[in-house]
Order: sequence, then structure tokens, then C-alpha cells
Amino acid sequence: MAITTELSSERIQSGVPGLDRLLDGGIPRGNLVVLAGRAGTGKSIFGAQFVNYGSSVLGEKTLYITFMEDKTRFIRNMKLLGIDLEEMESKGLSKVVNLVIPQSGQQNKISEDIVKAFDDFNPSRAVIDPFSALSIPVSGSKNELQSFVHSLVSKITSSHLDCTTFLICEVAANADQIGSGVEEYLADGIIVLYYLMRGKAKIKAVEIRKMRGTKHSNQAVLLEITDKGIVVDPDIELT
Ligand SMILES: Nc1ncnc2c1ncn2[C@@H]1O[C@H](COP(=O)(O)OP(=O)(O)O)[C@@H](O)[C@H]1O
Ligand SMILES: [Mg+2]
Repeated sequence: MAITTELSSERIQSGVPGLDRLLDGGIPRGNLVVLAGRAGTGKSIFGAQFVNYGSSVLGEKTLYITFMEDKTRFIRNMKLLGIDLEEMESKGLSKVVNLVIPQSGQQNKISEDIVKAFDDFNPSRAVIDPFSALSIPVSGSKNELQSFVHSLVSKITSSHLDCTTFLICEVAANADQIGSGVEEYLADGIIVLYYLMRGKAKIKAVEIRKMRGTKHSNQAVLLEITDKGIVVDPDIELT
């Protein structure tokens, strides 16, 4: 009798047209994915599109935690791109939570608030934007920041195994690492958005740097922000 082994994990569709082709069909469900890039590369739009697709197309419960952007402004800006989080909230399918980054030394409070948001809503998809802002209240050494990140991530993932979560990381132009450095190792996946110059024109690219549980392309391809959100063109390879 033939024995079939199911090696591939269950995939979820990202909601970003073209992206799933780079991932052999989609992101493995439950993966913790770092979405990194410089300011303006489209990380928040990407994240909003990811949760909105889950709720509007698949009926999933989704959570978007934002630190830096006021909830009303965030929802309004995304609506301009056809991403209607307000409608999904009114249906009880999505929740946008605006948390305030506390002062130095108060990191336990924000950690509890994040865990509570996950526990209360029990989402299938979630985004923490920008996760990298959590370094602000951690006043101590780099080790302290790394152990804080480690502990917070463990708390979220241990009780929400099936929740596919994006940690958005703002990367400075001259940065040689993502976030505290520990995110890259903890995460199941790393998706990087960046700018490229083509002559005098600035274009955007996306690259899957790491994704556990699937084979994937390592090629940088074209990413465009349109009136309908983000579109990735896997056929336009960039170097
Ligand atoms: N309608 C649009 N058409 C094209 N580009 C847009 C549109 N709306 C916003 N953008 C682009 O999206 C960028 C902001 O995306 P955002 O997701 O907020 O970036 P990040 O979170 O990475 O800082 C802006 O810099 C702008 O270039
Ligand atoms: Mg942003």
C-alpha cells in the first residue's frame, strides 16, 4: 500500500495579488512573519490588505494593532485604497486597536495590552504595526530588548498557534539588521520591501527572504501601490 506523506503545510492567501506565487501558493498558516522596510515602502498598506482580505473574502477574524497612527486616520487612509476596515469592524470580523507606546520602563503594560487584544479577539490573522516601536519603552541594554521581544512573541504564539501574524519593522536607511536582531531568528518568515533606483525613477521591490514551511522564490520582484492597494508582479524580476 502506498503511503502518502503530507509534507506541505496549509496555506493562506495573502490578499496581495501576485505575492502567493512567490510562496508556492501562500503563507503557511500560523507563521509569524516579519514585514520589514524603510518608511513609505508600503508595509502598513500591505498589512491592512492582508487582514482585510482575510475578513472580507474568507470571513476570518482579524486584528490590526497600530501604535503610531491614530485609528480614525488609519482607517480613512486605507479606505482611500479600497481597504474598508470599518465595514469589517461593523460586521464584528475585524478589530483595529490603537495602543499608545508608553514611557521608558513601562514595557510590561504594552506587552499585557497586546496579549489581551489577541486573547480577547482570538484572530486568525493579525498585524502589529510597527512592532519595532516596542523598542522605545525598553530602556535597558540590547539583551533586555531581545528578551522582551522574545517573551512577548512567545506569549502571543503559544496561545494563538493558528494565527498568522505580521510584525511590521521599520528599518532605517543605514540599518544592518531588522528590529532588535532577534525578530529575524524568531520569525518563521521575513518579507522585505525596498526601494530601487531605475535611472532617475524610484521603484519598489519585494523579496521573500525566509519562509518556513514552504519553498519560495528569493528573487526581488516589482511591487506597486495602486488605487486598489498593493500589487506584486512576480514576472518582473529586479536585481
Ligand atoms: N493611491 C496611491 N497610489 C500610489 N501610491 C500610494 C497611494 N496611496 C499611498 N501610496 C504610497 O504608499 C506609501 C505609504 O504606504 P505605507 O503602507 O503607509 O508605508 P509604510 O507603512 O511602509 O511607511 C506612500 O509613501 C505612497 O507612496
Ligand atoms: Mg507604516
